[in-house]
Amino acid sequence: MSKFIAKPSNSIYGNLKVPGDKSISHRSIMLGSLANGVTKISGFLEGKDVLSTLQGFQNMGVKIKRNGDNVTIYGVGLNGLKKSLVPLNFGNSGTSIRLISGILAAQTFDSELYGDESLSKRPMDRIINPLIQMGALIESNNGKLPIKIKGGQILKGIHYDLPVASAQVKSCILLAGLYAQGETCIKESILTRDHTERMLKGLGYRIDTNKNKICLTGGAHLNATKIQVPSDISSAAFFIVAASIAPQADITLLGVNVNPTRTGIIDILKLMGANLSLSNECVIGGELLANIRIQSAQLKGIRIPKDLVPLAIDEFPAIFIAASCAKGETILTNAKELRVKESDRIQVMADGLNILGIENEVFEDGIKIQGGVFSKPSSTIKSHHDHRISMSFAVASLRCHYAIEIEDVDNVQTSFPNFVELANQTGMNINLVSA
Ligand code: S3P
Repeated sequence: MSKFIAKPSNSIYGNLKVPGDKSISHRSIMLGSLANGVTKISGFLEGKDVLSTLQGFQNMGVKIKRNGDNVTIYGVGLNGLKKSLVPLNFGNSGTSIRLISGILAAQTFDSELYGDESLSKRPMDRIINPLIQMGALIESNNGKLPIKIKGGQILKGIHYDLPVASAQVKSCILLAGLYAQGETCIKESILTRDHTERMLKGLGYRIDTNKNKICLTGGAHLNATKIQVPSDISSAAFFIVAASIAPQADITLLGVNVNPTRTGIIDILKLMGANLSLSNECVIGGELLANIRIQSAQLKGIRIPKDLVPLAIDEFPAIFIAASCAKGETILTNAKELRVKESDRIQVMADGLNILGIENEVFEDGIKIQGGVFSKPSSTIKSHHDHRISMSFAVASLRCHYAIEIEDVDNVQTSFPNFVELANQTGMNINLVSA
């Protein structure tokens, strides 16, 4: 089990390109595999989570070649997948398992899906219930993994009001809808990331996206195309927070995906007084990109607006570090979903902040953080199998006067394999110690 020893540093500078977006990389493999023709992907994230998706489709007979961050997929069409000879293992990746279940529910063959200790604790009933309504046959371990999906079912389109603000659930139903008889419509009362909708359009599938209602009709096909994956704002988030809290900083993050369903971190930090600006905005493959420049600033505590919560859902561990360095208190509510991520991110972050001497109060659906100083020497934090916890506490070292040790950080490989290298390039001082 590896650990980070993150030592204090005062100033961080430079232009950085963080790796490709995880959500878009997953979808590029899934939709590229189901398309007719050859899909060429560039800027693909070489993280463990998306490699689990890639391996899953290879196991189902899709020829996929990867050369670093370039991937070529020889699509088999919507009905060309084959039964995997082994149960499909999706490791730590909720996105893989939840989205692929929508596809597998409509295949002629049976499938078995499982994951690691963290993924096995996460709720799967949120996708099983709507899929069963569509006609799927699924067995689970009380709504958790492993799940068995029975092949040979005829799916019917449904009209579904999303009970949780979840792009994974929305995408799972849309992917099942590609195979279903008739129309599938999803209503979301709170906006969630829309990469599936954008990529389906990019591959020539007709999908109506009208305010909060998304509809498609099964039975058409996807056409292969070129996909350029932009940098992941969820990875950029660690440097956005790092540059905001560092005593001296000037960082520019290049070509980051600033799709408006993902930019909650920017809006929240601006409300907190961050010194942040966007430039060179452009659209590539239906996704919006920009360079983000951040310089250090004295942040202030805020009450985080409810509608920004799903738009920053993966960034809260990093935002909590920003809140710890802000003047005054920051209050987050309506964020119960954080309890069912790779770890219970409300409790795990609260425990870590307590260890560092930051006062906080935990609610069922959020947290109150009193900004202060990291004050307890020789601190050891546990990541609880969660990559974003590992990286968030590494960033906290910018405002510590002592080294922080973060245990069990191999999980950083799931989403941001070169995190340490890039962080140290800016002037941070993180040592990866392999056990
Ligand atoms: C994702 C959606 C989010 C996010 C996850 C990736 C996606 O999950 O937390 O990291 O790619 O669709 P939920 O949809 O469950 O909120």
